Amino acid sequence: MLCLGFCLFSSDADAFHWGGGDYCRGCHGAIGEDTSSSTLGLLGGDASSTCLRCHDDTHRVLTENGGGHSPGGDFYWLTREYSQNGYEDRADSHGHNIIAVDYGLTRDAFKDRAPSSGGGVFSSNWLECTSCHDPHGLSYPSYDFRMLRSTGWIENRAGVSYYFPNPSPTAVSYSGQGGDWPTETDQRHTDYGEGMSEWCSNCHVGYTNSSQHSHAAGNNAYLNQYADLYNSYVATGDFTGSADSAYDHFVPFERGVDENLLDPYSTHGPDSQSRVMCLTCHRAHATPFANIGRWDFQTQFIADSPVFSSADSAQAFYGDDIEMRYGTFQRSLCNKCHVQD
Ligand code: HEC
Ligand code: HEC
Ligand code: HEC
Ligand code: HEC
Ligand code: HEC
Ligand code: HEC
Repeated sequence: MLCLGFCLFSSDADAFHWGGGDYCRGCHGAIGEDTSSSTLGLLGGDASSTCLRCHDDTHRVLTENGGGHSPGGDFYWLTREYSQNGYEDRADSHGHNIIAVDYGLTRDAFKDRAPSSGGGVFSSNWLECTSCHDPHGLSYPSYDFRMLRSTGWIENRAGVSYYFPNPSPTAVSYSGQGGDWPTETDQRHTDYGEGMSEWCSNCHVGYTNSSQHSHAAGNNAYLNQYADLYNSYVATGDFTGSADSAYDHFVPFERGVDENLLDPYSTHGPDSQSRVMCLTCHRAHATPFANIGRWDFQTQFIADSPVFSSADSAQAFYGDDIEMRYGTFQRSLCNKCHVQD
């Protein structure tokens, strides 16, 4: 079984992190091989560069044109800036600035730590793929969604220990195919169960209940009456939607149900027990917009975002033409729940 990242079938491909193929050597070289870093013999210059040897190429979360349309988003956006008259933008604010020396990705120049309201301080100098994902994470019998770090993970840096109190979230997603991640759509997406906001709060301490941050999110942030609004709202001025087809992958929510009731191919909208979560408005990796927004938080009409007058226009909403999808005068997607447009 030789399956080092170039597998044609997703079942084989999945087998890589499950210990398939020449597992350890996919990341750790042997003495005398291409080992440019520390004593661990990682094949890349650092942990993130090691991941990107596979994940910038076929299993892409870092592309050269923003064409990675996976749920987490494409780290490409960390390299793009869209400033215009009266509109300021900063590439760093488009995503989590993971440090990956071989790919020229460096720390956020402005934010020196994870914004939080009290509690621990997670330094931006530490941020890499393995801050969030466990490189050895799929070992039987434990499976954390996307190998995300869970309760008890301790980051040890230069004498400072940082502890994760909250578990990995409950969610189910689709797999890569032929070594790539098919585009996320309303019919194919991560279906979120619960605990994502709490998980983000491992570093953004207190953000599930913070006056410092602008919005409620978390296992108690029930949609209640907003669920009906979400289901009927299609776009500005169009309220003809129905619950069975209401799912909008640009404004996801948590269903608040067990893993076995989640379905990444479901188009069903929320009910009153569904919740707002961090990824309702943000992505986990990166987006074309400031504050890692799923849409531009700064413009009144989402189509007015400067990214749409750039060469990256077609990638910004995952290949959808934004005016075709919502109409020319779509206002902020906050309206999916608040309907104030
Ligand atoms: C997907 C990449 C990847 C694979 C596969 C992998 N490792 Fe690692 N390993 C890492 C990274 C990255 C680190 C650096 C520490 C960190 O970031 O967690 C590491 C650290 C280690 C360490 C240091 C202690 C620790 O856990 O931090 C040991 C020992 C180790 N790996 C052994 C192995 C063995 C044995 C295998 C095969 C069974 C293996 N690794 C497979 C990426 C990987
Ligand atoms: C040798 C190639 C290789 C390396 C190195 C590698 N990966 Fe992967 N990774 C894969 C393949 C193959 C898949 C499966 C993609 C698919 O489903 O088609 C995958 C899938 C994943 C997934 C999704 C897992 C799931 O099914 O839920 C995550 C998360 C991930 N990798 C993170 C990492 C991280 C973090 C590192 C570095 C520590 C890393 N990978 C290094 C090949 C690699
Ligand atoms: C701040 C935390 C964080 C960092 C840093 C991070 N990831 Fe992720 N990653 C996530 C989360 C959360 C998901 C699940 C996203 C979803 O389904 O909405 C994810 C999903 C993925 C997936 C599955 C495909 C997708 O986009 O959903 C892969 C592969 C992956 N990450 C690889 C990486 C690699 C490689 C790096 C470093 C270059 C990295 N991640 C850095 C949190 C992170
Ligand atoms: C391992 C720690 C860690 C986790 C987990 C984490 N973050 Fe972060 N986050 C950081 C750090 C460090 C920064 C500041 C550096 C940067 O922006 O790259 C940051 C910055 C941000 C920013 C501001 C980006 C900017 O520069 O404007 C947003 C938004 C954000 N995170 C959202 C999230 C969400 C949503 C999740 C959960 C899916 C999450 N974070 C999980 C460490 C983390
Ligand atoms: C309803 C939408 C929404 C939800 C839900 C949401 N955010 Fe935000 N977030 C925003 C907006 C809008 C901004 C930019 C304006 C601001 O700073 O309030 C932002 C800014 C941020 C920033 C950067 C500014 C700062 O320093 O605070 C971080 C970090 C962040 N969010 C993390 C999170 C985390 C973590 C969660 C989940 C616990 C979350 N967000 C949930 C809309 C949201
Ligand atoms: C998925 C649905 C959803 C989306 C999208 C959403 N919200 Fe909310 N919002 C809620 C819910 C639910 C509450 C009530 C939270 C609570 O009280 O626990 C709320 C509360 C608020 C409040 C407090 C006042 C009130 O009306 O109760 C403000 C202000 C607000 N949201 C603004 C925003 C902004 C700005 C955005 C876009 C950046 C946004 N919301 C996106 C669901 C949503």
